[in-house]
Amino acid sequence: MGRFYVTTPIYYVNDAPHVGSSYTTVIGDALCRWHRLLGDDVRFLTGTDEHGLKIQRAAEAKNVDPRELADSTSRRFVETWRELDIRYDDFIRTTEERHRRAVTSMIQAIYDNGDIELGTYDGLYCVACEGYYAETELTDDGNCPIHNRPVEHFTEENYFFKLSRYQERLLEYYEQHPEAVIPASKRNEVLGFIRGGLNDISVSRTSIDWGIPLPWDSKHVVYVWFEALMNYCTAAGLGSDDREFATWWPADVHLIGKDILRFHAVWWPAMCMSAGIDPPRQVAIHGFLLLGGEKMSKSNTNITQLSPSDLIDEFGVDGVRYHLLRDNPFGPDGDFSYEGMVERFNADLANNLGNLAARVSTVVEKKCGGIGPAPSAGSPLAEHAARAVADAAAAWQAIAPSEALEATWKLIRETNAYLEQNEPWKAEPGPDVDRVLGDALEVLRIVTVLASPAIPNSAAELWRRLGLSGSPEDVRVPDGLAWAGYPGGVTVTKGTPLFPRLTPRT
Ligand code: MSP
Repeated sequence: MGRFYVTTPIYYVNDAPHVGSSYTTVIGDALCRWHRLLGDDVRFLTGTDEHGLKIQRAAEAKNVDPRELADSTSRRFVETWRELDIRYDDFIRTTEERHRRAVTSMIQAIYDNGDIELGTYDGLYCVACEGYYAETELTDDGNCPIHNRPVEHFTEENYFFKLSRYQERLLEYYEQHPEAVIPASKRNEVLGFIRGGLNDISVSRTSIDWGIPLPWDSKHVVYVWFEALMNYCTAAGLGSDDREFATWWPADVHLIGKDILRFHAVWWPAMCMSAGIDPPRQVAIHGFLLLGGEKMSKSNTNITQLSPSDLIDEFGVDGVRYHLLRDNPFGPDGDFSYEGMVERFNADLANNLGNLAARVSTVVEKKCGGIGPAPSAGSPLAEHAARAVADAAAAWQAIAPSEALEATWKLIRETNAYLEQNEPWKAEPGPDVDRVLGDALEVLRIVTVLASPAIPNSAAELWRRLGLSGSPEDVRVPDGLAWAGYPGGVTVTKGTPLFPRLTPRT
């Protein structure tokens, strides 16, 4: 038991949330739900990134004030996260006063430390990334490597953060904290990048005013990435509540996509070091969800059509969450496929879990008068269950939700096989039938808790049908999942199918 502070990136408000942005957020939510089961004191932060040129231009194109655009899009993120049952503890908006205060105090600390100097920026910039590029990093056509769109030439008087001074300190830090960037392949990428030499970064703008003014030179606003990263500290109380900050900082995990690795694993720890605060404990990087081989994003129009709400209408909240967590291992890129999603829903949710629940409750109704029997001490399923709990716990710990769910579903399959071997539906009521059903009910209890971070609604419903009081969230893992926790002697309810089988749209 401890405290666990997890963050998602804060999302740009130039357009509505899509399945790609939902991916990181659902993973963060499920991870936090798991840690709450462990009894950790959890804080889950998400929010929106609202300043900068990209947002200013998007607002101009829509003929609205940037604040109006930020308000309306930020609201859409809140709504989408509500639809997806994201239980965050805090939703930060970078246009909030608390953020201005935190940014002002942090950038002033960096300035006072002598790490910010005036200079002239002259180079290439991708507005969609809000990032600089060296000529050598562009595509053969001279485009941004992420968005495949033309970059712009900028010349401006800017303040620079002396990132170049942090090469050795960063290498030393990563040497001492091998877990600070996962997976290892990304850690190696970061180390390679740092070893290649670091350029100073421009951290202010005079050409726009949609941002937070520099405390010592109000002609400049803080460069959007520089202030966006600080959101993680704002929400922990920096600049407004020192005790809160001491409790929650450093963050335990920043979950991010691979496109924003350098900002988080090179700039951010150096900024923290310069400001005299600890860097985050870990940055965990996942790949992209691809659609037809292309990154789903707001700038590539291919995904804007794929709204989380549409998928929820078809698959239900838990169906969408399960797909994102189970079918797209954390780390590599994954291809989104509608057909694959239907197939997985039918196999894992409708067939494996749905059938187990329906089968057990039907037979309990027929052979046990609807009262669930207690599990048996020496059940062959006990060993399988203990393994599932241990494997799932290890996988959640390693931020591998797909593996945690695989371990959970393995137990479901083993239990279905056990029922098929024993065929309690064919046997006469009596102790043998009671034993088999009691064991299956105990597995359902365990599975419900293990699956609850992914499918919280169905888990709560299944819990109720098993005749258990409270909710799966009340169980403390792992002790509460020790074999034979199902009390027996409680009413089991059958109900309508938890996951009605889906027929693919044509
Ligand atoms: N505002 C910055 C982040 C600042 S954090 C201090 C930003 N925003 S973003 O809206 O463009 O994207 C944020 C994140 O959304 C990505 O890093 C990634 O985590 C997630 N994803 C966006 N598209 C995605 C996919 N197609 N697939 C998986 N994740 C995706 O960058």
